[in-house]
Amino acid sequence: MTSTTLAPSRALQLKASTADVHDNIDKSIMDKDPFANTENYIQFLTLQYYFLNDVSTLYDHSELNMVIENLAARRRLNMLEQDFQDLEYPVPASAFTSLISNETDLATALGWLYVVEGSKVGAAMLGKQAQARLLLTKKYGARYLSGPGAGRGSDWRHLVQLIDSIELNDTQERALINGARQAFTRFQLFQAHVYS
Ligand code: HEM
Repeated sequence: MTSTTLAPSRALQLKASTADVHDNIDKSIMDKDPFANTENYIQFLTLQYYFLNDVSTLYDHSELNMVIENLAARRRLNMLEQDFQDLEYPVPASAFTSLISNETDLATALGWLYVVEGSKVGAAMLGKQAQARLLLTKKYGARYLSGPGAGRGSDWRHLVQLIDSIELNDTQERALINGARQAFTRFQLFQAHVYS
């Protein structure tokens, strides 16, 4: 009898290759008790804003648009802006120059998108905390956390299927993982900036 060990899917490998940095980010965010009061929550939203604003060109990326049909509809930056308006705080001004452009190669861009879209998976859980502790909802103040696409819905499953099935050569395989790690590192840069 022969036994075959299947290699983990590409998306699972991506998850494993970034688990250390995800855990670090998750813990350091929660250490700041983001739902303790409005001030902490605004700091948390500011961090999210820096990140989403920085990666916003991903959602206009021509090659990504060719492989993800609802790419533009996945954008959450406007929901975040509305959360600031609900809470009567100004939308932060960011002086950072994005690392992403339309020239970013497809595999790298897909690695970044995995991280940005993946942050919606945990967002569903955080939205529940915002509701329980600060009485914020998907219609007021927690639009970004509890809006459409939060959790492991069909958008997330489609992205994972795409990551698993898209044809990539060895260089692109590496670019996919590097792109994801760059995106997490970028998030950490904003964390250091917001909580300095
Ligand atoms: C306090 C903040 C956060 C919490 C509590 C959190 C929590 C979670 C949880 C519970 C999952 C599902 C894990 C699983 O099923 O094994 C997840 C997935 C994910 N999160 Fe977070 N997360 C947080 C912040 C972030 C941030 C800021 C990013 C991106 C910058 C991010 C990126 C991801 C990605 C890419 C996945 C998908 C992993 C995969 O299944 O491939 N998370 N998160």
